[in-house]
Amino acid sequence: MAYLKPDQPEKVYVPALAKAKRRGEKLVCLTAYNYPTARIVDEAGVEIILVGDSIGNVIHGYGNTIPVTLDEILSATKAVKRGANRALIVADMPYGSFHINADETVRNALTLMKDGGAEAVKIEGGRNRVDLVKRLVDEEIPVMAHIGLTPQSVHKLGGYRVQGKTAVDATRLIEDAKMLEEAGAFAIVLEVVPREIASIITKELSISTVGIGAGSECDIQVLVLHDLVGISFGRLPRFVRQYADIRTIMTEAVTNWMTDVKEGRYPSDDESYGLPKDVSLEELPD
Ligand code: KIV
Repeated sequence: MAYLKPDQPEKVYVPALAKAKRRGEKLVCLTAYNYPTARIVDEAGVEIILVGDSIGNVIHGYGNTIPVTLDEILSATKAVKRGANRALIVADMPYGSFHINADETVRNALTLMKDGGAEAVKIEGGRNRVDLVKRLVDEEIPVMAHIGLTPQSVHKLGGYRVQGKTAVDATRLIEDAKMLEEAGAFAIVLEVVPREIASIITKELSISTVGIGAGSECDIQVLVLHDLVGISFGRLPRFVRQYADIRTIMTEAVTNWMTDVKEGRYPSDDESYGLPKDVSLEELPD
């Protein structure tokens, strides 16, 4: 059930991003994939929640985002919707959900919006996605674009590397960003691109840039929540600043509980139920 806090600032809709950019106000975006994390992120005041296909890495342990299904994003979006009252909810279009044809892409995006409660979708790719972005926007589906390191292209790219490092590649990135803006995207993720290129794109576009590993000049910063709070496994990318170590806190809690059980300290009488005073053990059969 949705909750309401009387003092909460107003709900974030897509136009709020352009307004913030015009005012030079920075916004933030975090991933969430379930009800409790959506509530925490939303109540903290984060403006945008991305139900990212990073769910494949941090929740399902797939190792990359390729196997993530529309159903997995849909189920996560529904849970996030129940937990988030204020933030704009953006659902990722997983690999395979926008590759067959435009009609199927629209159908999948509508599913995330109508059944999942998403308020926008995110789609990876540059100039090759321009027609698709136009079509989605024509169907009243707000689109966040995503260029630079696009993890769904991991096999083509041969790994996760900084993109746009040569003059040719950087020029192509800038062109892609402009084409996606022209196509109607309301924002564009710039993932792991040199900060100088992100800065140029941010200045040249009137839509918001959403940076991850792209320097401080992007209009919006996005991170994977699990990286931020220390509950992901493996080496963190250089651009992640870890603000908490929840994994250690959880491990300690589990270990302490386990030890208490094994050594007879849990549960105590206060943590269990006794017979009512008027019932005596004598009344019970042997
Ligand atoms: O899936 C995701 O979490 C993302 C962000 C890293 C931008 O695409």
